[in-house]
Amino acid sequence: MQLIDRYHRKFEYLRLSITDECNFKCNYCLPDGYERTHQKQFLSQHEIGNLINAFAELGTTKVRITGGEPSLRRDFSKIISQIAETNAIQKVVTTTNGFNLSKHAVEWFDAGLKSINVSVDSLDANTFNLITGKNIFHKVMEGVDACVAAGFEQVKVNSVLMKGLNDHDLTTFLSWIKRNPIQLRFIELMRTEDNADFFNKYHLSGQAIKALLLKQQWLPKIRHVNDGPAEVFTHPDYLGEIGLIMPYSKDFCDNCNRLRVSAVGRLHLCLFGEEGVDLRHLLQKSSDKEQLKETILASLQEKKSSHFLDLGLSGGTPHLASIGG
Ligand code: 5AD
Ligand code: SF4
Repeated sequence: MQLIDRYHRKFEYLRLSITDECNFKCNYCLPDGYERTHQKQFLSQHEIGNLINAFAELGTTKVRITGGEPSLRRDFSKIISQIAETNAIQKVVTTTNGFNLSKHAVEWFDAGLKSINVSVDSLDANTFNLITGKNIFHKVMEGVDACVAAGFEQVKVNSVLMKGLNDHDLTTFLSWIKRNPIQLRFIELMRTEDNADFFNKYHLSGQAIKALLLKQQWLPKIRHVNDGPAEVFTHPDYLGEIGLIMPYSKDFCDNCNRLRVSAVGRLHLCLFGEEGVDLRHLLQKSSDKEQLKETILASLQEKKSSHFLDLGLSGGTPHLASIGG
């Protein structure tokens, strides 16, 4: 039994959200901050264990723990080690806003975390504050340095492109990765249900950056079948790399290699456009594992070829904190 869809895409990568909650107010995601509308019970370690066992038996080898901000959970390190110890799972990674990274990088590494993505939308402290609502730019950067020092396989920095807000930062970003072995990933701003006006004002295509990089002798890295949707560029004079994530470009979804499970146990076949399939009732007893696997496999056959964002759809996702980006 393997996770392959009708378009012959293989899914060895699971993104698991463990909380919706976030302590940042990123202007494109949660501009008014996280609002707890009703008391949600996020997946327990017991439920996570049953879920991961089933996915591992279906061929999942890599798990990214996401949120909201995943490290807001007090049992975050325990969840890392629990997943890392599961047979067949080769890689546990996470995406964090970095607020407590400088303090915890080594602890998470020791728990079995292999690599880490940190969101840093600007290298200018004021702009960072303006975008995230948190005046802790230097602390986050200390966290990034702590990750490099801790010995993670890969440290990536995510930066959402926004016209007039952080597009001037490109030169600073480039000189930063000259001597830092970091993969800097520029992500095109995505339209969600909540951010339509913001999207129209700030969306910037990554194509302009791609053209500029090619002009400056950056070389596209060869892509492998299961590499996922980022286009990566390297340069002999730079220790770091650049990744471009351009969800609005044609064929973006051809390389889709990930499935998502939300913090309340719903399987999402795409970041956009569907409400998800409830798995939670099958996460209570380990004896439900076969039924759980069958449900996941059957759902996957419904996965569409594309998110059709280029046709102006924003789907049913209010903001990405609700499903983990
Ligand atoms: N468009 C693009 N990227 C987004 N992220 C969150 N919301 C959006 C959006 N609307 C990014 C965060 C983080 C990652 C998990 O997703 O900046 O780096
Ligand atoms: Fe929090 Fe990430 Fe959303 Fe920013 S983008 S508000 S860090 S969930």
